[in-house]
Amino acid sequence: MRPETLAAQALHGIDAPTGATVPPIHLATTYARDARYQLVGPGYARDENPTPVHAERVLAALEGGAGALAFASGMAAATGVFRALCRPGDHVIAPRVGYYNLRGWLAAWSARWGVAADLVDTTDLAAVRAALRPTTRLVWLETPANPTWDVTDIAAVAALAHAAGALVAVDSTCATPVHSQPLALGADLVMHSATKYLGGHSDVLAGMLVTARDDEHWAALRALRHDEGACLGPLEAYLLLRGMRTLFARVERASRTALLLAERLAALGVRVRYPGLASHPHHAVAARQMQRGFGAMLSIQVPDPLALVAQLRVWVPATSLGGVESLIEHRYTVEGAGSPAPPDLLRLSVGLEHEDDLFDDLRAALAP
Ligand SMILES: Cc1ncc(COP(=O)(O)O)c(C=O)c1O
Repeated sequence: MRPETLAAQALHGIDAPTGATVPPIHLATTYARDARYQLVGPGYARDENPTPVHAERVLAALEGGAGALAFASGMAAATGVFRALCRPGDHVIAPRVGYYNLRGWLAAWSARWGVAADLVDTTDLAAVRAALRPTTRLVWLETPANPTWDVTDIAAVAALAHAAGALVAVDSTCATPVHSQPLALGADLVMHSATKYLGGHSDVLAGMLVTARDDEHWAALRALRHDEGACLGPLEAYLLLRGMRTLFARVERASRTALLLAERLAALGVRVRYPGLASHPHHAVAARQMQRGFGAMLSIQVPDPLALVAQLRVWVPATSLGGVESLIEHRYTVEGAGSPAPPDLLRLSVGLEHEDDLFDDLRAALAP
């Protein structure tokens, strides 16, 4: 079956005992044994609660993976990859441009843990090749990357990394399984802040990892979540499951609106960063690597970003992304000095409102 069908039906998730078309929320943390002292289903909720397990199965199917693990947040999932797979003395490569909180965490953790970490422009294959060392354990990618929407060639980096004996993990939060399949392009792991598009309604904090293979690296990640317990609760998992059922309709619509807005704003003379525009430096890679559109995130660069935000009536000035409501954010204020976000940049997360309302709001605020 095609991914839209798998997502809409949550893998045809009819509840066997009742026939309910909506998956039940399993709140039990423990499960009784039978007369022969055997478990009839799960044993304990940390790894086996059926509601998060259902959400994991849906995402594994959408990403074409061998398995998925749900975490309490995107950060728990992302940091788990480094912590489960890297030992003191290892080397890791991460993108210079990308989610700032992970960059900050990696600097502190790697220094404390004796792991060498290089921030590299991963869109530059020569720079990736030069940064790889015999000790490189992991190459972390984010594409399209916050907040300039740099697009990294996943297949090319995976070939370089694998030849050097390193693993590749991709933060695919902003691409979503609608636009990109990193595992099919050669990545070993995919990570999502499911707080964003997978949940889709700005009402659940969650993270996901998907693996290409059920191998020793995946066993290490399963053990980390089991031992440290940063798992997803059933109520959050239910919201995530519900969000994923409408993933394709939401993301395709928001991405269409984002392209339209990018084109209309560029036509007004505004400096726009969006991988779907031919003017974006990585448009060719994006066109090759992404399907069904280029995502619903774009940035604009304007002379007085905070004054522009103050005039908006439709766009909500808030952090995060991937919800049904459109958000706008001045990343430089949030990330502070040292941020690769230019001070004149505003990040736009396009939601599901009418495209004319979104455009008219921006145009009115842009008018002198
Ligand atoms: C691209 C990206 N990766 C990871 C994260 C972290 O996810 P969470 O907030 O769910 O911990 C975020 C959150 O903003 C993000 O935008």
